[in-house]
Amino acid sequence: MIVNDNNTGSDKLSILIPYDDIIKRVKELSREISDDYDGKPLVIVGLLKGAFFFLADILRELTIPFHIDFINISSYSGTTPAEKVKHLYGPTNDISGKHVIIVDDIIDTGATIRYTVEMIKQKGAIDVKVCTLIKRETKEKRDVDSDYTGFMVKDGFIVGYGLDHNEDYRNLKDIFILNE
Ligand code: IMP
Ligand code: MG
Repeated sequence: MIVNDNNTGSDKLSILIPYDDIIKRVKELSREISDDYDGKPLVIVGLLKGAFFFLADILRELTIPFHIDFINISSYSGTTPAEKVKHLYGPTNDISGKHVIIVDDIIDTGATIRYTVEMIKQKGAIDVKVCTLIKRETKEKRDVDSDYTGFMVKDGFIVGYGLDHNEDYRNLKDIFILNE
């Protein structure tokens, strides 16, 4: 189905996950996290820029206290995985002795999340878990995986709800497949 609900004026986008379904899943994940981290010192670290809508929506629903931090890791240019993960910013909080949840937009090869988990562990976190909005199905087992997963997807490049293609489409409310 080709839609233009978000006034993109583009026939390149096919809707994959409507906003209402995203929010339904976000609430389920928030409930799980609130149960798991009750009474624990928690820092939630969002991966910029792609996770910002997901992060905000999930954090609003949490019923436990926590601190917020950000990391900016750049690993993608266009639709091909770049050779290297680039660490641009953060975290700025002292996370030693804290439980940490990293919130990401999408796990593809797993290179970004592997790098990020390792970095946070080295800073002395008690434990590090990963919450991702989307995970791409792969046959190979990833050595670092997510603990909380919003949706599994197969093929296709995903945009919207924070996810971009060369900085386009991040602003879209729903999640789309980009047809090229
Ligand atoms: P990985 O290191 O291969 O797991 O890639 C993770 C990062 O690449 C994500 O945080 C995204 O920024 C980007 N990425 C991977 N697949 C997609 C996609 O389908 N759409 C938009 N960004 C993607
Ligand atoms: Mg990203």
